[in-house]
Amino acid sequence: MLTNLWYVVLPSSQLTDGLMPVQLLGQPFVAFRDDAGVAHVLSDICVHRGGSLSAGSKVGNSVQCPYHGWRFGADGVCSQIPAQPDLRIPAKARVDAYPTLERYGWIWAFLGDLPESERPALPTLDWIDDPAIRVVAGHFDWQASWDRIIENGLDFAHAPFVHGSTFGDPDHPEIESFEVDSDAWSGSAQMLMRRPARKGLLRRKSSTEFVSVATVPGFHLSGPCTTLELELPNGWRIYIVSAHVPIDANRTRTWWMMGRTFLRSRLLDRRFIASNIRIFEQDHAVLKNVRPERVPDSFQQEVSLKSDALQIAFRKDVQALEQRGWRIDEERLARTFTGRKACAIPSPERRQIRAWAIEPIPLVDITHESE
Ligand code: FES
Ligand SMILES: [Fe+2]
Repeated sequence: MLTNLWYVVLPSSQLTDGLMPVQLLGQPFVAFRDDAGVAHVLSDICVHRGGSLSAGSKVGNSVQCPYHGWRFGADGVCSQIPAQPDLRIPAKARVDAYPTLERYGWIWAFLGDLPESERPALPTLDWIDDPAIRVVAGHFDWQASWDRIIENGLDFAHAPFVHGSTFGDPDHPEIESFEVDSDAWSGSAQMLMRRPARKGLLRRKSSTEFVSVATVPGFHLSGPCTTLELELPNGWRIYIVSAHVPIDANRTRTWWMMGRTFLRSRLLDRRFIASNIRIFEQDHAVLKNVRPERVPDSFQQEVSLKSDALQIAFRKDVQALEQRGWRIDEERLARTFTGRKACAIPSPERRQIRAWAIEPIPLVDITHESE
């Protein structure tokens, strides 16, 4: 798991009046809106006696801890201590507050301490806001790690085997060679995929007919997600984004959206939602059993082929971020921060203010082999 990236916290529509608990990167957070409707995300651990702020209440633009009523503003700073109203509030009476953005129908939080000028830009997903495109959305929970799931989304050799009953074509498992286009934050490939011909909208024909679909799979790391663009020979287009958010090292929640330029009636939404979830279920049946659970550190520990090139581009980009020191030390986290010690993802404010009650999450000082 990586810090210093944007993560989807919740769909905008799910954050209304109250306090919402959310677990990301193995840590608890509380999300809420202030009186102006602006979304905020704080660490959910009260620095007094560890109360869960999300179980408290929203009072004006503040969060009130359910245990002794301390109030924390949207900036994470404690503004009121009911037991000692005359006390000068201690400097360490603050919780981490994370930068947030609301875009593409999702609330994103920057879980890291980079100053604004150094934060990566969100992926561009303009089709979501295009009124000519009908968009449906949902989520899917996995017993699998975020990096294995992203690689699965970049992998087309599995479709004939895992998705043979949906979009894969078991009679044509070959992958034609393709070029990968990548930079430090993203990668994509242009492929021509054979897909079984459909009878009607989604049912496959029993014959061996197929259609060639221009397929562009891709990934972004600034807000970790996979993207997929499909264009059928008749010009119909489908767009999918799946934001894969680690709940913890081995569990992931995927927030997804799917847009279509055709058959845009609302009445058909359920069919498209069901088909996307069916595909995730097929992937999950395989991914929940892969070992090791995480993508291995070394390329040598698995056998990769040319047809895996887009996944390799993803691994290299992840390794470059890990070399910046952004990888969470999951082993130390599990060993040390349990029972008697809590931790939090450092927020940008920690670069200004040194004294904090809760320790920062452990990070790995890593040097990867170069290949
Ligand atoms: S634990 Fe939050 S106010 Fe005491
Ligand atoms: Fe798949």
